[in-house]
Amino acid sequence: MAVRKAVIPVAGFGTRFLPVTKAIPKVLIPVLDHPAIHYCVEEASRAGIRDIVFVVSNDQEAIGRYFDSNPELENHLASRSGTARLDALNAINSMVNVTTVLQEEQRGLGHAVLMARDEIGNEAFAVFLPDDIIRHTSPTIAAMVKIHEENGANVLAVKQVPDSAIPNLGIIDPDPGSSDVRRVRGMVEKPELEEAPSDLAIIGRYVLAPEVFDAIESAGKGALGEIQITDAIAKFIDGPGVFAYLFPGDHFDVGMPLGMLKAAIHEGLGRDDMRAELVEYMNNALESGKTED
Ligand code: G1P
Repeated sequence: MAVRKAVIPVAGFGTRFLPVTKAIPKVLIPVLDHPAIHYCVEEASRAGIRDIVFVVSNDQEAIGRYFDSNPELENHLASRSGTARLDALNAINSMVNVTTVLQEEQRGLGHAVLMARDEIGNEAFAVFLPDDIIRHTSPTIAAMVKIHEENGANVLAVKQVPDSAIPNLGIIDPDPGSSDVRRVRGMVEKPELEEAPSDLAIIGRYVLAPEVFDAIESAGKGALGEIQITDAIAKFIDGPGVFAYLFPGDHFDVGMPLGMLKAAIHEGLGRDDMRAELVEYMNNALESGKTED
């Protein structure tokens, strides 16, 4: 059966993005003129995933509002000439169906995903971590759904990362080979560099069978004393299997300011109305940076 639903955990304090996250949910900080959360949801929608479950914490109603209609604003735009803005807003409203579930305590990513169990039911589903934006001509999650359909396995997106990043991420032990789809033999959440089985890190896209919910329930606390999705998925390695997908495209960690800035520049360079001026600005900035050295 096709994957129709996705869980997107958005709860959390956004500490890497303080002070702005004192007042604004991290996923609403814009990458250019769309909030970060827009990009994951758009990727899901492009892959035919229409039902999105946001796992939120208190005070995050604004996230749902972004995907809802706003009649007052729409009437205001409709009464003016030109429909481009209104059309753009309507496209967002009609992109997906949104449900929110509350995660009252922050007990880890596995726990956050477990909160969506009733909404997902007994079918395979996708998980998107909105800190990870992947830009590519075709949606990464669509390729992963295909791998899931072919193998019946859980599927993770992975990429090669530098040593310095390894202790902050989930790291896999892949079957040897050079294919972009590799069977996973082991996985460990936030290992010490010396204990990491490879330099391939999990990036926030998953396609999971519903059995993972039981596995999360029995997982117990892992790295950082939290319930980790990595530990739950690892239980399937010897059963239906876990596959890693070394995805193509551009990946940005927008959970921190520098990653957000890079993503914004990437988007700006892709826009006909901005590219020339942005390039000119960057060239000048680089030139004056040189003379200051
Ligand atoms: C989570 C996952 C980790 C993964 C990372 C990717 O970690 O637990 O396996 O590598 O996302 O962004 P977090 O960033 O929540 O600490």
